[in-house]
Amino acid sequence: MAAMTKPVLHILLLGFSIFGLCRLAAADPLAATAPVRDIVSLGEAFFFDTSLSRNRTQSCATCHDPERAFTDSRDNGTGAAVSLGDDGISLGDRNAPTISYASFTPAFHINDEAEYIGGFFHDGRAATLVDQAAGPPTNPLEMALADKSAVIARILENPSYVGALERLFGRSTPADADKLYEAVCQSIAAFEKSPPFAPFDSKYDRYLRGEYKMTKLQELGRQLFFSDLINCSSCHLLNSSPLYQQETFSNYRYHNIGVPVNIAVRKKNGVGIDHRDQGLLENPAVDDPGQSGKFKVITLRNVAVSAPYMHNGIFRELRTVLLFYSKFIVSNEANRNNPETGKPWGKAEIEETVNLDLLQKGQPLDNSHLTALLAFLETLTDKRYEHLLEK
Ligand code: HEC
Ligand code: HEC
Repeated sequence: MAAMTKPVLHILLLGFSIFGLCRLAAADPLAATAPVRDIVSLGEAFFFDTSLSRNRTQSCATCHDPERAFTDSRDNGTGAAVSLGDDGISLGDRNAPTISYASFTPAFHINDEAEYIGGFFHDGRAATLVDQAAGPPTNPLEMALADKSAVIARILENPSYVGALERLFGRSTPADADKLYEAVCQSIAAFEKSPPFAPFDSKYDRYLRGEYKMTKLQELGRQLFFSDLINCSSCHLLNSSPLYQQETFSNYRYHNIGVPVNIAVRKKNGVGIDHRDQGLLENPAVDDPGQSGKFKVITLRNVAVSAPYMHNGIFRELRTVLLFYSKFIVSNEANRNNPETGKPWGKAEIEETVNLDLLQKGQPLDNSHLTALLAFLETLTDKRYEHLLEK
């Protein structure tokens, strides 16, 4: 899987100037020049095009449904924990995350304190959004085309794609395999950077702009979230200011928070219950065993409508996630068991690297705090998905 998402760096650099323009266009539609707007709409067409999969059953939108905060809401026999591929048989081993606000993820890099940050997929193995888009069409568990040339053949079937590619990326593009593939990935990424993916119009955003008044419960939850009483903020804040307008609720670092194996999925997808997903260590750019079991902090934007949770979709409800965090701080009657199974929490998939220092910080959540925190997390729902909260 990983080898297919290796970056094509030299071509990427060429793309940056075009990208700069896309960003501007996304921020201010009036500033968009016609050609740039067309790259976004070309990317949109690719995103929804099922002919980019082997049996023509599956597009990016199949697993990243715009009506469901860009997640895979199909049950797939796993409670939507993992995705079904284009072959109608293959199940993946990881949960399709929301890709709303994903464009705010920094490129994969190491900072001065030798911490890994950013990148795409739960293990950051695609450095950028453009690199990421190169993966799914030829991933055997996903869109399952044989190779890059098979993808290109599908693109060339469509005269309107050929015309648009010539116009937007240069006349020689359709005839040059590398250039063409890169243009496809750049277009998809440009679409993923466009406003529908990051509208910043949730109740929380409206509250920050003075357009919405939080209920008492939501406000208590907000204060708790940003306080040191509980410890969400050390991983789920990009900016420490509670007034920051483009907060994505992830610092894009990697941590092992002790998520158990999803045994039900492992029995179904053929991976086997003894397998260990090593998270960040599965990223080909990482070889330090100390990184095993760490996963990228997931955004909390749209979290109330993007169940199930964690890299393997093991928890169905947000309330369970909160009880899971609580059990690191205190073990009592209320959180000794996973409420979804009625049994004790499974042990961490990789036990050696669980970040107990951070997970054991803060106060236990009592019931009223838990309810308040849930109410706050619901305010992070984009306006277009608010109707899903009622269900
Ligand atoms: C069969 C389901 C499926 C299809 C089809 C699919 N994806 Fe995904 N997507 C996933 C899964 C599962 C992950 C997480 C995989 C992992 O971490 O290893 C993911 C991860 C991502 C991410 C990373 C998000 C982040 O924050 O790290 C992006 C972006 C993305 N997909 C975009 C796309 C695009 C663009 C396409 C079409 C070219 C696509 N996906 C097709 C299932 C799918
Ligand atoms: C030590 C860092 C850390 C702390 C502290 C932390 N989280 Fe997380 N959180 C993560 C990581 C890493 C993941 C992804 C784990 C995975 O994919 O297996 C995650 C995942 C989640 C998810 C699942 C999101 C999804 O879409 O699957 C939710 C919800 C969540 N955290 C909420 C919280 C809340 C609420 C708090 C405070 C009570 C908190 N987290 C504290 C690091 C942290």
